[in-house]
Parts: sequence; structure tokens; C-alpha cells
Amino acid sequence: PLGNPTELEKIGTVICIGGGVGIAEIFPVARGFKQQKNSLITIIGARNKDLLILESELKEISDELLIATDDGSKGTKGFVTDILKDLLNKNEGLNSTNCLVFAVGPVLMMKKVSEVTKPKNIKTIVSLNPIMVDATGMCGACRVVVNNEVRFACVDGPEFDAHLIDFDKLIIRLESHKVAEHECKMKPKLTERKRS
Ligand code: FES
Repeated sequence: PLGNPTELEKIGTVICIGGGVGIAEIFPVARGFKQQKNSLITIIGARNKDLLILESELKEISDELLIATDDGSKGTKGFVTDILKDLLNKNEGLNSTNCLVFAVGPVLMMKKVSEVTKPKNIKTIVSLNPIMVDATGMCGACRVVVNNEVRFACVDGPEFDAHLIDFDKLIIRLESHKVAEHECKMKPKLTERKRS
């Protein structure tokens, strides 16, 4: 419920990409673009077929649904970016004037999507989920660098032009609490061990 609503408009072809739990987030976006009478290609991916969600719902609203799994248990063996690359190479008519890519998923996935579309100058929007604390634009926890400016995902985002995001800085920030997170996860186990 935070930030700005998705800008839905008629573009021509919209390629919606969801990775892991990002599939859940891409669903209302994909539906919205379809309602705007766009041709909708949806690409979803997960580590294996058991982790794929909303497949039938997305199939129903998409003109084409493509699937990638890391282990090949469903669809193409590989990543959503492999499918995207292939799709754009086969459809040279898709360009900056008639195509939009919208991706939600792990930061690394969104970075790779951006790397595929940037040379073709195809506008790409991603929805970021950096760590948030107050979610009112005051604490600065969710800051991201976009077009060399600091922006707050909770009020300025969560959607940004992927080609302008400093993904490397974002990845470093997301990693910065890993040790503390690990220690917190281990704490109950250590307590249990002490009790026994
Ligand atoms: Fe605090 Fe966004 S979560 S500024």
C-alpha cells in the first residue's frame, strides 16, 4: 500500500516478469496492463516447479505465458532472463516505441533483466523492496540511488526505471544486515541447546 501506484497505459506489448514471490506482485500489474488492451507476455520463474505460483491465473490473462525453472522441472531450464533474451532476439519488432518490460523479483534478477533491455533501449520498470523501517520517508532505510540521486522506495517508489538504478549499491545495502539476520535466526536454536 506504500508509495505510488503503477502507471498503467496502452503501450503495445508489455512483458511482465516475475521471479519467486515476485510472481505474486506481478499478477495485478499484468492484469492492469491487459485491461489497458496491451498484448501481454508473461514470464515467470522459480527454483523448481513446486515454487511456481499463480500459473493458471497468469495464463488466463496473458497472450503468452513462458516459464523458467532453475532445475528444468517445468518450462525452460534456466532463468527468466534467458527467455527474455531469446524473445527480444526473435521479435526484432519489439522496440522502445512499442514495448515495456516490467519485472519484480530478486534484485539480481531485476539487474539482469535491466542489462538485457538496456542495449535495446526498451523501457524497463522494476519494483524494489529494500529494507523499510518507518515507511514514511523519514528514516532513510529504504534509500536507493536512481539517476545518481538518493530516492526512498517507500515514498518515491517502489517502481523505478531500471536503467537508472544503481543495483550494485542496492545489493551491498541488502547484504549489510546478513550477519545480524543470521545471528537472530540462530538465537532460538542456541537457547534450545542450552535448555537441553
Ligand atoms: Fe524509512 Fe523509507 S522506510 S524512509
